[in-house]
Amino acid sequence: NQDKINKLIDLRAEAKLGGGEKRIEAQHKKGKFTSRERIEMLLDEGSFEEFDMFVTHRCTNFGMEKKKFLGDGVVTGRGTIDGRTVFVFSQDFTVFGGSLSETFAQKICKVMDMAMKAGAPVIGINDSGGARIQEGVTSLAGYAEIFERNILASGVIPQISAIFGPCAGGAVYSPALTDFVMMTEENSYMFVTGPKVVKTVTGEDISIDDLGGGKVHAQKSGVAHFLVEDEDEGILLIRKLLEYLPQNNLEEPPITECHDPIDRLEDALNEIIPDNPNQPYDVKDVIHAIVDVGEFLEVHRNYAKNIVTGFAKFDGQPVGIVANQPNYLAGVLDVDASRKAARFVRFLDAFNIPIITLVDVPGFLPGSGQEYAGIIIHGAKLMFAYGEATVPKITVTLRKSYGGAHDVMSCKQLRGDLNYAWPSAEIAVMGASGAVEVLHGRKLAEITDPEERAAYVQKHEDEYKANFANPYQAASYGYIDDVIEPRNTRFRIVRGLQALGTKKLTNPPKKHSNIPL
Ligand code: COA
Repeated sequence: NQDKINKLIDLRAEAKLGGGEKRIEAQHKKGKFTSRERIEMLLDEGSFEEFDMFVTHRCTNFGMEKKKFLGDGVVTGRGTIDGRTVFVFSQDFTVFGGSLSETFAQKICKVMDMAMKAGAPVIGINDSGGARIQEGVTSLAGYAEIFERNILASGVIPQISAIFGPCAGGAVYSPALTDFVMMTEENSYMFVTGPKVVKTVTGEDISIDDLGGGKVHAQKSGVAHFLVEDEDEGILLIRKLLEYLPQNNLEEPPITECHDPIDRLEDALNEIIPDNPNQPYDVKDVIHAIVDVGEFLEVHRNYAKNIVTGFAKFDGQPVGIVANQPNYLAGVLDVDASRKAARFVRFLDAFNIPIITLVDVPGFLPGSGQEYAGIIIHGAKLMFAYGEATVPKITVTLRKSYGGAHDVMSCKQLRGDLNYAWPSAEIAVMGASGAVEVLHGRKLAEITDPEERAAYVQKHEDEYKANFANPYQAASYGYIDDVIEPRNTRFRIVRGLQALGTKKLTNPPKKHSNIPL
């Protein structure tokens, strides 16, 4: 009997070596951890339970039957993070470059199925040379099996992808289908076609980093929600992110004890809005001032910076925050900002996380560039996301809220639950100068003397501002529930969330909506 136990011990030790000492060393030399080290770092100590350690591939092409590794290039299993169950898979680059075989895919599908049954998040760590070339089409089918599960799990359990190595070709679509993608600054690549193929097909000469490195996807394409310096930081961030999320769509996000007074007054907020309406300020200062202990986990920090999205807590209740950023492009809504915020709002709604919206938006970015890029559709996406969302929605208008952008940013008629405004709010169809141009264009064209013209403009702008550059017209119609003192914003939001804790709202039955994509 002891012999049999010894055999098990030996087999386990063999599996744990993956592709062998030499390849592990090569992995470390690149500044990367191994698949198992990553899992150990991610999960609570001693909580990992591995599945399918003895699985091997079934390929017989190119003499592959002689080359087998226990576990076949992916480590899968279950464990806990802060005591809550999660399912993980971690691709092992030391075995056939982490390439995906039929059995490799089956292992991933198994943990995804288990996660769906248990109603627990899935975390996938990607480090792979893509489809296993020796296997051909079974490997492609394997990807599609995973994709279908990603799709069905979307909106049911949180899915998080870390890209800690290459992720190329069809392989990119699994992370792309998940809720959050994280990349490291180095050693992390995502592209549908690599630099060599790009060069052959289009002639474009581009480095691997410039084509699909972490920075590019965090800043330009928006494919990556998080960019981290290294794997250690990335793993801590995944653990942190889960603090804000429920286990699945039928649960509420976890409420934690709050050590920050809910009625803390922030006098600085009374002064934060500059007197000159065209002068910017950093909306993140407002966010840090009002949330529990100033803690804000920003999502898409480097992409479409004119809108800020991220997680925070109020009295220990997780929320998602969406805020226009006057510090960047005056906080205007453009294609990228609309897409970024829409995706975030839909995530929050799918997982029962209340939405706090801070508004200071001068409108949509005008011009042919945006029109040709389909700002109509993408702006509609954000409006759709807000309008469809049934979670508690609290909106605070800090300053500008103009035109169509006013409607989009969680206004009352898109079923906003509580719509507050600061006294500095300007809720109007457009800004004063634009309005005077339109209303008095003909008269202005007739005035030739520049001084006379300036005086005429000033007079009518003043008149317009007196009527509309304030929150009171909107408040007089009940579109704004209350005008609040800025320093009291935290307390008003906390109380609002308490009152909305029992909110019940459903949408009409349908197969699914047809959001403008
Ligand atoms: N299928 C089978 N084996 C693969 C593989 C794949 N798709 N990708 C890598 N490997 C193997 C290599 O043969 C090598 O095996 P060895 O250790 O026995 O020599 C090992 O994985 C490491 O690969 P290597 O190329 O030495 O690593 P690298 O860090 O220099 O390069 C990649 C990494 C991913 C850029 C490179 O391996 C690559 O281009 N792979 C193919 C990518 C691709 O086009 N995949 C299909 C897309 S769907």
